[in-house]
Amino acid sequence: MATSLKFPKDFKFGVATASYQIEGGWNAKGKGESIWDYQTHTFPHKISDKSNGDVSCDSYNKLDEDIKNLKQLKVRMYRFSLSWPRLLPSGFANNINEDGVRYYNELIDKLIANDIEPMVTLYHWDLPQSIENLGGWTSRAIVDYFGDYARICYELFGDRVKNWITINEPYSICEWGYGDGTMAPYYKSMGIGSYASGHNVILSHAAAYNIYNSEFRSKQKGRVGITVETSWLEADSDTKEDHEAANRMIQMYFGWFLHPIIKGDYPPVMRTQVDKKSKEQNFPRSRLPRFSAEEISQIKGTIDFLGLNHYTTFMVKNGSVGQVPSNYNDMEATRYQKSEWKHSAREIFKLVPWGLRKLLVWVKNEYENIEVIITENGYAGLEKETTEDLDRIEYYNLYLKEVLKAIHVDKCNITGYMAWSFMDNFEWSDGYTLRFGMYYIDFKDPKRERKPKKSAFVYQNIIVTKVIDENLLPNTFLH
Ligand code: NOJ
Repeated sequence: MATSLKFPKDFKFGVATASYQIEGGWNAKGKGESIWDYQTHTFPHKISDKSNGDVSCDSYNKLDEDIKNLKQLKVRMYRFSLSWPRLLPSGFANNINEDGVRYYNELIDKLIANDIEPMVTLYHWDLPQSIENLGGWTSRAIVDYFGDYARICYELFGDRVKNWITINEPYSICEWGYGDGTMAPYYKSMGIGSYASGHNVILSHAAAYNIYNSEFRSKQKGRVGITVETSWLEADSDTKEDHEAANRMIQMYFGWFLHPIIKGDYPPVMRTQVDKKSKEQNFPRSRLPRFSAEEISQIKGTIDFLGLNHYTTFMVKNGSVGQVPSNYNDMEATRYQKSEWKHSAREIFKLVPWGLRKLLVWVKNEYENIEVIITENGYAGLEKETTEDLDRIEYYNLYLKEVLKAIHVDKCNITGYMAWSFMDNFEWSDGYTLRFGMYYIDFKDPKRERKPKKSAFVYQNIIVTKVIDENLLPNTFLH
């Protein structure tokens, strides 16, 4: 059914990608090694199909095709990330790789020439291995290294890039990279390594923001945000206990990063929980590090807009679960999903559109109506999925309808939406076994030809008409 609600005229529709997931060219012309290069080459079994991003979508060599497809989609914005080791092969700021600068200059210039605004993520998970060797995000030294890298990116590209995202999905970096060890660098240190890395992620984000403010903002006039992900967490019952549990969970997952960046320190409930649990577990000090008064003043308010990544929803009940120690156990809350919710090819990415609207309203109330750009939202298809991706169309129609209600009925301050993803790509530890794209790629085809899926036609139609019509199933692009 068509809804009469329309997206605002200046609403920024776009698509999103990340360097390691699409570029390939893993050692092209002076590029350094990232943690994903190192892990996939040394321990291929960690990736479900033993694949890697060596070639992936080959966007390093197929820039013109990517631009042509973006133009065809009629997006206003393209969210992509810079590869730190492509620009700084040693990881450090002593040596800039000219070929990396050339590649991103070309991409940015061609986007602008085609009226597509670049939205650039500085860090989307491909850390230089040289920095990981020094402890990666768990080491305090990274705050300076990240600041140096950010400064170089602003210097090189900030004359044309006006939308910066410092870091993509801090929770995934910390919990999966250094907590449960399901993502590079694959360290298992739940409730300790995850909090140590989280602390440095927050300080690094603030360093990059403050460098922009003091050295670039007045001449470049751009904006700096961070992309944080969360599922919606719905209390399982009307009891006070379940409501408090759902609140603890969102504060210790999403608020873990956003509360310090917006308000200066960890959410009070997170401080209390982790301090209490650490004591019970006989740790001599809290597993959650503390910010000094000076650091609090440096991190507070370091955000011009919030990049929000969202895929699904969970129900939350009071109760203690999870490995001891761990972030999940510290929450004293337990989550599950309803069996009747339709799932995508990733079991936990269930279709629960109303969760996005509730989340947007929660963000509005919790963070003083901060400007939100949805920087990822999308649907996982199976490897055998074809261009007939009707389930993805259903997902986008239903989720975008909730965005419309959040804008018009709830008056949330949402200014853009980037679909994940532009094209099928390397899905981290799931390799090429899941497809998120609006363009289909056969990863066995050396040409890596891109073919629009049906969802690309539907999305382009939404971008052009600004309305959602669930009955519409175009077979081609509008001209
Ligand atoms: C989160 C990440 O930012 C992105 O890299 C990933 O591919 C998607 N979500 C889908 O899992």
